[in-house]
Amino acid sequence: VIQQVAILGCGLIGTSWATFFASKGLRTKIYDIDAAACQRALQLANQHLKRLVELNYLSPTELDKARANLQPVNSLQELLLDCDYVQESVLEDYAVKAEVYCSLENHLPREAIIASSSSGLLMSRIQQPLAFPERSLIAHPFNPPHLIPLVELVPGEKTSPETVAAVKAFFVQLGKRPVLLNKEVPGHIANRLAAAVWREALALLDDDVASLEDIDAALCNGPGLRWALMGQHLIYELGGGAGGYQKFIDTIGASFTSYWQDMQTWTEIPVSAKEKAVAGTKQLLQERTRDEWTQWRDEKLVRILRILEE
Ligand SMILES: NC(=O)c1ccc[n+]([C@@H]2O[C@H](COP(=O)([O-])OP(=O)(O)OC[C@H]3O[C@@H](n4cnc5c(N)ncnc54)[C@H](O)[C@@H]3O)[C@@H](O)[C@H]2O)c1
Repeated sequence: VIQQVAILGCGLIGTSWATFFASKGLRTKIYDIDAAACQRALQLANQHLKRLVELNYLSPTELDKARANLQPVNSLQELLLDCDYVQESVLEDYAVKAEVYCSLENHLPREAIIASSSSGLLMSRIQQPLAFPERSLIAHPFNPPHLIPLVELVPGEKTSPETVAAVKAFFVQLGKRPVLLNKEVPGHIANRLAAAVWREALALLDDDVASLEDIDAALCNGPGLRWALMGQHLIYELGGGAGGYQKFIDTIGASFTSYWQDMQTWTEIPVSAKEKAVAGTKQLLQERTRDEWTQWRDEKLVRILRILEE
């Protein structure tokens, strides 16, 4: 049974994970190699928790418990002492991860599980320095993990089925929606889907097809609304009417060939697209600051989650 969680690396994602685990009643230690980052994380996690109470997503009693669950520590040793589960969220870089994984097991109880938040690195490579790699896997969240239910579970070559089953059960019990990959691919599932949409969003902007605001509006006022409820496969099953997915693929689906033929396939963002994208979002930051947009997002997310939980 997982009772004591260790957050290793508390930048954007580690902080949000800490908020999540503490809000679910788990004792949560947090550690960062940068002591200032650890203090900032504690402050920010407390702010996130307070916001959840304001949004009626957490009760005042739960808030007190969650706050008491958060414990910043000053060393890796202290972090891993008596820990059942490590959520590693250090920088997305094989060299940085390797450094951490080389020393992790010196302090970690033998039965503890090691989960990496990595957005796109391969667990088979990350787990190489471990003496007991079978207890490690990727548990990739979507930002912000204290609100978004998705967790992508990706076993490496040496991950045991028992580890996968235990982590899956852990997240289900915490109210998350874990998905399991049968094989390792860079970017897992969700970021590959995001990568496909993002490249096209950049290409449309670069090609002056529409303004940045309209491209984003086309996404969130159309497909995005449905995506909160169902994925592309079920959407197109319904899109085929009585004929279902088969009919959709044979009729409307066929015309997608001409879209795909016209679409960009580059694998590095063109400088011109980057410049237009960065300049375009500056405009949006005049409407609301980045913090205000984040708050706006989280408040709406909570309301959407409530509807989905009904
Ligand atoms: N940013 C996202 O949207 C997002 C989403 C899902 C997953 N992730 C993944 O989460 C991980 C962290 O990303 P982030 O955006 O939070 O990065 P970040 O830069 O905000 O935070 C990384 C933290 O790791 C700390 N760190 C570096 N080396 C360390 C060490 N040896 N020991 C302890 N702490 C150390 C840094 O001081 C920093 O505070 C990455 O693997 C990333 O792919 C990111």
